[in-house]
Amino acid sequence: MRAKYKVMTNRTFTMIKPDATAKGHTGAILDQIIKAGFTIKAMKWTKLTAEKAGEFYAVHKERSFYGELVEFMSSGNIVAAILEKENAVADFRKLIGATNPAQAEEGTIRKKFASSVGENAVHGSDSDENAEIEGNFFFSNLERF
Ligand code: RTP
Ligand code: MG
Repeated sequence: MRAKYKVMTNRTFTMIKPDATAKGHTGAILDQIIKAGFTIKAMKWTKLTAEKAGEFYAVHKERSFYGELVEFMSSGNIVAAILEKENAVADFRKLIGATNPAQAEEGTIRKKFASSVGENAVHGSDSDENAEIEGNFFFSNLERF
């Protein structure tokens, strides 16, 4: 395949969730992300309202844990970031580990920093399409480089 037509799969979106920022894990998590080869293209320290958290996770609206998820995600500070790396979406999901930290591989961010399936330290986009949508949710064109 000629490089010109290569599908762009080089960006993902992440949030460091309220449990991890509250426990002081922000620096260690960012360090692990950077050491794994990701470049930060945009980043902000912020807090979601319940309304915004509900909008972000609207895909889970019908799930039993939705209310709990919205409450948790709006309970404290988060770090939102756009990350770049070849094969970013898949590589980042591998770096963070399974949704439930009890099932996450040794050395993954969730294994090291998450306490439960609900409070699991980090978010990672699950597709290129969602990475784009989620990045746009937090950042304008003036805020990314
Ligand atoms: P995320 O979107 O945050 O990266 O997490 P994920 O893809 O690994 O998992 P997903 O199925 O998209 O679920 C989104 C978030 O909802 C919370 N959750 N709680 N109590 C529960 O059974 C439960 N299941 C999911 C987690 O915070 C999960 O990350
Ligand atoms: Mg997800």
